Amino acid sequence: MQQSPVIILGIESSCDDTSAAIIKDGKILANIIANQDVHEAYGGVVPELASRAHQQNIIPVVDKAIKQAGISKSDINAIAFTNGPGLIGSLLVGSSFSKAFALAMAIPLIEVNHMHGHILAHFIDEENSEKPTFPFLCLTVSGGHTQIVKITDYFNMEVLGETIDDAAGEAFDKVAKMLSLPYPGGPVLDKKAQLGDSNKYSFTHPKVPGLNYSFSGLKTSVLYFLKRELKLNPNFIKENLNDICASVQKTIVDILLIELKKAIKETEINQIAIAGGVSANSELRKRLASFSAAYQVYIPKMEYCTDNAAMIAISGYYKFLDKDFTEQSIAPNARMKI
Ligand code: KG4
Ligand code: ZN
Repeated sequence: MQQSPVIILGIESSCDDTSAAIIKDGKILANIIANQDVHEAYGGVVPELASRAHQQNIIPVVDKAIKQAGISKSDINAIAFTNGPGLIGSLLVGSSFSKAFALAMAIPLIEVNHMHGHILAHFIDEENSEKPTFPFLCLTVSGGHTQIVKITDYFNMEVLGETIDDAAGEAFDKVAKMLSLPYPGGPVLDKKAQLGDSNKYSFTHPKVPGLNYSFSGLKTSVLYFLKRELKLNPNFIKENLNDICASVQKTIVDILLIELKKAIKETEINQIAIAGGVSANSELRKRLASFSAAYQVYIPKMEYCTDNAAMIAISGYYKFLDKDFTEQSIAPNARMKI
């Protein structure tokens, strides 16, 4: 007898992207993302504006995902949503929508940790893409997190090291702001860096014990470096923008990879993955792709690096197979840990 397919609707609303995805037996049928331009004028995400925009976007985004997937609402077996970490007002929109949808359709509700989602995006069924096998290490780098995680099963994850202050994405964004680049800074800085000389300027590396990271010192040293140079030449940034971007980007990637290599040595795990928004960074992808042939490196497709609901839907799919459902009484947790 042929088994009926499992169709999951995934919802992501932890920060400033409203996203809905439909997954059928591990394959993505739709992954719709509405970005919020409203934050551009402020140079960063304004939480109150983010929740309002989620409220406006959520129904159209879900509607579009269902239409694009070519299914009907009643085909959906369960709804999975991001329950944290993230901005509480943003999380509330996705969780409230999901609870209401589960109740109205009489289907199970599944909560997903956003960081699990970033990592489990590697298990989305894609043509010509290999999936990691357990155990593997994942460098999880986003706007809010920088962690080295050991994954022994879909939902069995251990943080081996993490940032003690700013996240890598935050470092990209804050330096981009100092350079007056438009928001969101990380991808813009990356584009400029590709045209610059990454060895032109050097910045010191942090000294942090264990497999941990720190990026706040780098931010300060870039700030003082710029102040110093601007005193000598008011056009310094304008004249050297690409080289500054390339040098800062190289420093951030160097710092990320030094600890990752230490973790590989300590754990003797040779399967390495990256996840989170910063895994879209061209320098990080290039350097990982040229890693020793002794390691198997998994780099996510661009569209699954930054926030998206496909990663929540695949996580929901594995939880559905385990019948790991949640209650209507669940509340979002802005500081949820891995
Ligand atoms: O995972 P994500 O979309 O949202 C969070 O969960 O934080 O990550 C967003 C972060 C931002 O800091 C953004 O600037 C950074 O990822 N980012 C990049 C690139 N694309 C996104 N940073 C460097 N280079 C990129 N190409
Ligand atoms: Zn994220």
